[in-house]
Amino acid sequence: MTEIRLTVNGVEHAVDVDPRTLLVHAIREQAGLTGTHVGCLTGDCGACTVVVDGRTTKSCSVLAHSADGARVETVESLADGDDLHPVQRAFWDEFAFQCGFCLPGMLLTARELLESTPDPDDEEILRALNGNLCRCTGYNTIVAAVRRAAQEPA
Ligand code: FES
Repeated sequence: MTEIRLTVNGVEHAVDVDPRTLLVHAIREQAGLTGTHVGCLTGDCGACTVVVDGRTTKSCSVLAHSADGARVETVESLADGDDLHPVQRAFWDEFAFQCGFCLPGMLLTARELLESTPDPDDEEILRALNGNLCRCTGYNTIVAAVRRAAQEPA
């Protein structure tokens, strides 16, 4: 085991990992933040998406030790207490999730898109969310939510 340091949502964690520990497992099991979900573990579904040093990243595709010293943001960082982030509010208002399993990846990816492309069209939204799979909604309400979030003040 090796001790690494992760700053997750502004809080520093010293965690012991073995060479095969995935970042998603370190976040969930050692930092105790279970909003990041474990889906496919093959980099396909996007449920494990977090932000590592400013870039959305599928945390099942990153070995924890390679993230030593990184600044990680998880879905828990979006809301401020009961005040939802505009992207969360838009997903809520558009009924853009059902089971919620894909939600961490959808929200963080949508936020990243809106930071770089403040008024995306549907094609840009679908392209950005391409690596995030949803089994429930059929994506139409998700696209509508991202459009709505683009119209709301951050
Ligand atoms: Fe990481 Fe599916 S669990 S992409």
